[in-house]
Amino acid sequence: MTPPPVATSPPSSPSAVVDADALRSPFVFALCQPGAEAVVRDELAQHGLSPSFSATGFVTAKAREPLSLATLPRLVFARRLCLSLADVDDGELLAARVRARVHHEQAASGEPRGAPADDGDVVVTTVVRGRPFVGVHRQRPGLSRDPCGDAQLVVPERAPSRAWLKFEEAARVFAVPLVEGDTVVEIGCAPGGMTRALLDRGAHVVGIDRNAMDPRILAEPRFRHVQTSARHVEPSLVRTVAPSPVRLLVVDVNLPPRSALSALNAVAGAVRGTLRGALFTLKLGDYRLVAELPQWRSRIERMLRMPTQATQLPSNRQELTVFATVDG
Ligand SMILES: C[S@@+](CC[C@H](N)C(=O)[O-])C[C@H]1O[C@@H](n2cnc3c(N)ncnc32)[C@H](O)[C@@H]1O
Repeated sequence: MTPPPVATSPPSSPSAVVDADALRSPFVFALCQPGAEAVVRDELAQHGLSPSFSATGFVTAKAREPLSLATLPRLVFARRLCLSLADVDDGELLAARVRARVHHEQAASGEPRGAPADDGDVVVTTVVRGRPFVGVHRQRPGLSRDPCGDAQLVVPERAPSRAWLKFEEAARVFAVPLVEGDTVVEIGCAPGGMTRALLDRGAHVVGIDRNAMDPRILAEPRFRHVQTSARHVEPSLVRTVAPSPVRLLVVDVNLPPRSALSALNAVAGAVRGTLRGALFTLKLGDYRLVAELPQWRSRIERMLRMPTQATQLPSNRQELTVFATVDG
């Protein structure tokens, strides 16, 4: 079969418009968490790409055949993966030529700039790492819509922990099914950063954790604390304490993923029938554990009978976020 024409750069006429879907390049670049570069290189290699230049939070690679927007692989640990256009160094010009709705930039100093993208938008990203790298991707559900995949959210003072970010960032990437008045079961809720985010969105929260909650969270009328390990919670207790059918399960326990999933089995069984979605923060501790991710995901999928998506959020250190939803 004849390979498609390689168009790594738009035509020379400044007014010429290029169909973004016709762009072809064997090169890609990925943006990731500092420290996750090796995991991204492994993911790229699994898709048949050969990693080349890397810097902190940045990995480039080359495919054997030219790729297009439609054939860019989906990676868990790259918060942004772009078709990299080798001969292009002016992102503004490229954005005009491919009629990109947004142009995202990250200077060497690291701060991303640009407006959030909507699903279906063609996005041009310029990243400066020694020189400018200019790439293109198409926005889709399950991918951060923020410049360079990082909304740069700041933890508000009323949140008792940084974990507030884990919920707010996840809600910008995934269609987390939570509406005002819903009941959420949160396992591993102390001291209450994520609880703060849930309460601020109008949820009733049943929080399970043997550790103490921040007094500001305990004072909230829509919060109930079940102060024990999830392992010791009788399924009937959850149904008694919850003010209405449980719609969302949130899990953020400091246990290795296999133990975490065992610990919540009974609670998950109690709420599965009414759930619309679940959000798990899985602690890796060691990136070598990533090899087990497919097992953890299929365990969650069997436990909840929902498909999953996984990503690493900007606030995730050596951990990742798995989202399950009935709408998935
Ligand atoms: C990272 S902290 C949670 C932070 C919290 N999500 C927040 O937003 O502030 C991990 C928590 O998991 C809790 N934990 C560990 N094992 C647990 C279990 N079996 N059941 C419930 N909570 C557990 C710990 O007590 C600890 O408070």
